[in-house]
Amino acid sequence: MGDKLSPEQIDALITAAVDARSRAYAVYSNFKVGAALLTREGKVYQGCNIENISFTPTVCAERVAMFKAISDGNMNFQAVAIISSDATPTPPCGVCRQVMSEFVDDDFEVILTNDAGRILPFSFREVLPMRFVPQSTIGKQDVWEVIRPIIQQDDKISEDESKLVQHILRDMETLEHQITIFINDGKIGEEERERVREFRQRVYRSAVDVAHADLTISDEEQAILQKLAELLEIDQ
Ligand code: THU
Repeated sequence: MGDKLSPEQIDALITAAVDARSRAYAVYSNFKVGAALLTREGKVYQGCNIENISFTPTVCAERVAMFKAISDGNMNFQAVAIISSDATPTPPCGVCRQVMSEFVDDDFEVILTNDAGRILPFSFREVLPMRFVPQSTIGKQDVWEVIRPIIQQDDKISEDESKLVQHILRDMETLEHQITIFINDGKIGEEERERVREFRQRVYRSAVDVAHADLTISDEEQAILQKLAELLEIDQ
């Protein structure tokens, strides 16, 4: 969303990242990193890595910049420039990507650079292709895992049960497909979550219809529906 950074804006952001790197506290690794984070309001937050003798409390430059901005009341981000003391432009670590993922959209610009002036621009979509999306990612496999113990508790599986399970798994596959589209489009807002909720309701109601088709509902069918409702968070 919004315009991409101009070459001048990129230069200014890189200058800020280089400046931030000069304050890196990297006495253990000697690997200095500087990050400059630009908000849509035009503010720049700088961050450097801060290491610790106990190692694990070390924080990366990117997160320092992120947390400074957020604690300052700004979380509307447009771009980040990152430079390390390495000759190769350094991509952000996985933890920093996850932290960014909370606050940036897929078009957020991640600009990697080095002292030789190499500039590698990426979109956040490229840097973190498949985001973790809480609550909406329950798929076919999760449903199968809760249903399997029920249908395997006795030796026989009736035709009705088998029909029900196949029906549910097919619906769940469609739901999974829908969620993958949302994720790939970078669309994971409230509207998409609502669509997922609606779809889950449909999966459940349709499963109830299939179970009821012969007008009797066996204990196992009942148990399957119960587990499905729990997993999909359906209020019965
Ligand atoms: N580091 C960062 O600042 N950002 C990254 O994305 C990767 C790693 C820091 C942490 C540590 O101080 C040093 O680089 C070596 O891992």
